[in-house]
Amino acid sequence: MKHPDVQALVYASFAQLRHCRYLLLRIRDADAARAWLRQPEVLGLVKGGADLRREDAQDEALSVAFTHAGLLAMGLEEDHDFPFPTAFREGMNQPDRARALADRSVDEWAWGDLGGDVRQHVQVLLAHFRKEAFEAESGPLSLPALERGGLEVVRMVKTCPSYIRNDGEGTQLFEPFGFRDGLSQPVLRSTADDSRMQRKRREKVGGDLAEDSVVADGEFILGWPNEYGDPAYAPDDARWRAARLEGAPPQRFATHGSYLAVRHIRQHVDRFKAFAAAHPAPDATTPSLVEKMVGRRIDGTPLVKCPFAPPDPDAFRYRVDDAEGFQCPLGSHIRRGNPRDTLGFDVASGVAQSKRHRLIRRARIYAGECQQAGKGGCGHADGRRDCGQGLFFIALNADLDRQFEFVQQRWVGNPRFADLAGENDPIMGGRGANAFTVQGPAVGQRTVNIPPFTEMVGGGYFFLPGLTALRFLATQGQGELPGSD
Ligand code: HEM
Repeated sequence: MKHPDVQALVYASFAQLRHCRYLLLRIRDADAARAWLRQPEVLGLVKGGADLRREDAQDEALSVAFTHAGLLAMGLEEDHDFPFPTAFREGMNQPDRARALADRSVDEWAWGDLGGDVRQHVQVLLAHFRKEAFEAESGPLSLPALERGGLEVVRMVKTCPSYIRNDGEGTQLFEPFGFRDGLSQPVLRSTADDSRMQRKRREKVGGDLAEDSVVADGEFILGWPNEYGDPAYAPDDARWRAARLEGAPPQRFATHGSYLAVRHIRQHVDRFKAFAAAHPAPDATTPSLVEKMVGRRIDGTPLVKCPFAPPDPDAFRYRVDDAEGFQCPLGSHIRRGNPRDTLGFDVASGVAQSKRHRLIRRARIYAGECQQAGKGGCGHADGRRDCGQGLFFIALNADLDRQFEFVQQRWVGNPRFADLAGENDPIMGGRGANAFTVQGPAVGQRTVNIPPFTEMVGGGYFFLPGLTALRFLATQGQGELPGSD
């Protein structure tokens, strides 16, 4: 069951709303910003889990999230007994944190959750999804309306819809290097009984391995039971707490919220394609070097095969089928992003451990300037046009330390991941050597001097409040009591 108070972004990528733009904002006038947010035409666009089946959610949707500074500017009175966690308060761009995340060039980023000499300071993220292209600048989300609403538009990031293909076979997502994406996603336990999962269970798609992706809601939604069986820690607002003590339901301000780790990543597509062409596969049945670097064939087929028929592209494990990395190299991007059952002392404990470090990924491809670009988004309708410049990567999680930062530091950005001899993630780079080893039965094969394929343009930590908390912020805590659970 999708909860009506949880912003729909937690449950859905809105892939049917193929046009999307991200608005990165700074709050100039908090009263005007609250009045802007209070408008029914704005709040009404922010869908909750229960709205996803509604007809109007099929046309347009909005997600609203704030950095810590953004929440304070909107009037948050942080409760000293239940403060926001350090990672979120300090921000992704805090120098020690940036170092730990291997973000060495953070001072040159275009934007961040902390300002800098060059870096622009962003406090609010709007993700605006539409079925139709953004053409005329009118309505409450137009740039002039935002400016009138006390919100300075620091940056607008347009995305290209051609990387989403909706055909008879369902929705397929791609990324600019050409790979199919969005195949591995955690399934929230509360939604695991929905029709898609039921069909998988009935038809035994992926066999029992399909259950590996079912994860406790509290890994993504604050206040809900997580993989430890504890309610995910939810911070509070002193004004909300006072209202609660007067008899309102016991949930905290941040209950039903989630954290977003946003990474605005530039992809050097020409460089990647030249590298791929220089390292072709020996024959059609053997994965090429770049496919081994990702860990999937370009069409998304995993390099470690699903042991059951019919197969599921997300149902495979490493420990028994590919412990040495002979099929899917140990340092490949997907093995780093989710080592599945290789943690722990056996398959069951390995799967259980990996469930404590999962991320819901909600990336869209941001577009370059192209001939057909409309004002608010790239005008490409369909087909892959190569105008994608990179990923606007959003990872949702309930614990930035234990999930996003752990994955980034210990796995993706760790040169010694899986006992490798100082190698970087082949897609994301890092602070090790630009080398990649393909393990092999006799000797492996190491490729060195791999050029950097990506670079970070900006990023920050945001809080995605539940709908009641969002209304509470919009009314500055006036006349709005927490809704019931
Ligand atoms: C431009 C940058 C990136 C590109 C091109 C990229 C590409 C891909 C591709 C093609 C897949 C396989 C499709 C799938 O399994 O759904 C994938 C999976 C994944 N990526 Fe990335 N990615 C990028 C950045 C990141 C970052 C920054 C992180 C996290 C810090 C990350 C974490 C993951 C995870 C967790 C998976 C799923 C692995 C699994 O469960 O098997 N990726 N990525």
